[in-house]
Formats: sequence, structure tokens, C-alpha cells
Amino acid sequence: MSGETGAAQPAGLRILRFAPAKLNLTLAVVGRREDGFHALHSVMMPLILGDAVAVTLASGAAGARGDTLRVAGLGLPVTPDNLVLRAIAAARGAVHATWPGAPSTPPALAVRLAKRIPVAAGLGGGSSDAAATIAAALEAWGAALSGDALVTLAASLGSDVPFFLAGGAALVTGRGEFVAPLPDLVGESPAALIVTPRLAVSTAAVFEAYAGGERPRTQAALAVSERLAAELRAGLSGSALVSGAADLAAANDLLPATLSVAPSLAAFRVALERLLGRPVGQSGSGPTAWVLFPSLATARQAARLVRLGIRDGNLPPIGDGDPFVAATVTAGRAGITMVVESNRSGGVA
Ligand code: C5P
Repeated sequence: MSGETGAAQPAGLRILRFAPAKLNLTLAVVGRREDGFHALHSVMMPLILGDAVAVTLASGAAGARGDTLRVAGLGLPVTPDNLVLRAIAAARGAVHATWPGAPSTPPALAVRLAKRIPVAAGLGGGSSDAAATIAAALEAWGAALSGDALVTLAASLGSDVPFFLAGGAALVTGRGEFVAPLPDLVGESPAALIVTPRLAVSTAAVFEAYAGGERPRTQAALAVSERLAAELRAGLSGSALVSGAADLAAANDLLPATLSVAPSLAAFRVALERLLGRPVGQSGSGPTAWVLFPSLATARQAARLVRLGIRDGNLPPIGDGDPFVAATVTAGRAGITMVVESNRSGGVA
């Protein structure tokens, strides 16, 4: 993504970027760092479920004061600490001396965000929006950054942002800043059912609970995570990934901490597993539960079953309203490019 520095885009031109959600197929916590962050070993995979970011050069006030953000879709309050606005400000700071219009400040940007990824869900929505915004802002300004500068910029906004800049499945280590791309799955992409109870689960609170002792006693998650990364490198098929879902679902070291922060999740996850007869994993620090399926059609059937379960009381009530339920497909690099192309021909409100 770090292309040559070129000319800024003409005013009015709209740059569109797809911002996929992600799943943590594994999440092992391997230690605590001196900076207070936890060191992770996590295999992360993008999904076709995603937000869309549209960026244009704004006329009006220069610099950060002129940046604007409008959000459509799922409700999201627009405050100055929104990751999209912070991403533009940080990107502007990183390129101000080197972009084609230096020494002037890179111009203000107007962003429209079509929000489909639930917020604070463990699906990386805010981080993905930030990564997509950095890429679009650099393109709008005709600016470029070295790979290292890009990662530093991304990591300053959130631990998951570097993963989204890389655009594909990856083994993520460190606090999230080391992203080793992994090959796409071989054959048909598996589908995922996403069930996100409307509970506010703070990532910081989950890591705090983990540090306080709410954690597994074994290093089983790390072994599963290392094995999955090796299998993907060797060419893992989508169907083999789905067959191994029970090991993956058990390989999230944050689960006990998440359940201590949001105790109502425990009964809900047990009921979901019983209803679907398949292993239920957790993405990131939660509260999103994932279930893998061999095809989108089977995941859609499961989504209907879950919606009925919520309506008929076969799943316990949880959170503030009905959970978000979606059937989606895991995305390889090629899949993400396809979505970017289809977004170019429309789709952002
Ligand atoms: O970087 P992000 O905003 O996702 O992190 C939120 C909080 O979660 C951090 O401030 C930190 O307390 C905790 N965290 C951590 N180790 C990580 C990622 C996050 O301790 N690898």
C-alpha cells in the first residue's frame, strides 16, 4: 500500500475503501510486556462483512478542524475521538513534511462511513475503519509512507490496525504490530455465523481481568495457534479448517476474562452451542461468538435458527435488545479486492 508519492487527487473525487471485520480464529496470550500491553499469538482472518469508507477532499477550513465524518447504518456517535477522525489527524501529522503540497498542511477530508460491523464487538470494526481511512487519506493527498512508518502510525491508533493494513489472513504477534501474512485457504471459503450480544465489553477491562488471574491454566491455545499458522502456510483447505473448529473455538485465552466481565455470556454461549450442535468460538475480547460452516447457505440456515431461538426463548435473553446475527464468508486477499471493486461502483450512502 505504500506507493510512490504522487499528485493529490482532484477535489470532489471520491476514494472508496472496504473495511472488513475480522475473526480471531485463535488468540493466545503469551506474556505481558513492559509497556503494559499483552503479547499475543493470534491467527486473524478478514470477513466479507465490513464497513465502507468514502473519502473526498473537503473544501473549507484547512487541516484537522475541517475534517468531517458522517455515519450511516449502525448507530455510532461521531465524537472527535472517533478512530476515523483520529486516523486522518495522525496520517496528516505523519506526512505533513513529505506530501506533494508541503510545506502546506494536507487538506481537510470529508469522510462517509457506512457502518455494518457492530461496535466494540471483538470484530475489529473501528480498527478496520482506521486502516481504510489511512489508506484513503494517503491516496487523496498523493502521499506515501514507508512500511515501518505505516505500521507505527497504525499501531498508534490501536492494536488491531496493523492487521487491517496488511489485507488478508495473518499471524499477528506482539501487541498486534507484527503481522505475518498467511496464504488464503485452499478451495471454497468457509462461512461464519456471527452472533454479537448487545453488551458493552471493554477490551481494556477484559485484559485487566486476564492480568488479575481470569485465565486458562494451560498453554493449549498457543499450541493450537502455532499449529493453525503452520497448517495455513502448508495450504489448508476451507473444509479442513471447519473440521478443526472445536480446537480453534477452545483456543481463546481471553474467554475466562470476558466471562468474568460479562457473566451473562456464559449461559448464552452454552445455549448457542446446544442449539447449533457446533463449536462456538469467541472473536478477540468478545462479546462476539463465531461458528464456522462449510458454506454460506448452511450459515444462513443457522442464522435463521438463532433468530428463531431468540424469539422463542430457546436462547436466553442477553444484553440491551436482540443480538446482532449475521451469516458471512471468510475473505482471502482476492475476495477483499473484489469487494473493493464492487464498492467502487457504488454502495456507500
Ligand atoms: O489497542 P487497543 O485499543 O485495542 O487496546 C485497548 C486496551 O486493551 C489497551 O489499552 C490495553 O489495556 C489492552 N490491551 C492489552 N494487550 C493487547 C491489546 C490491548 O493489554 N495486546
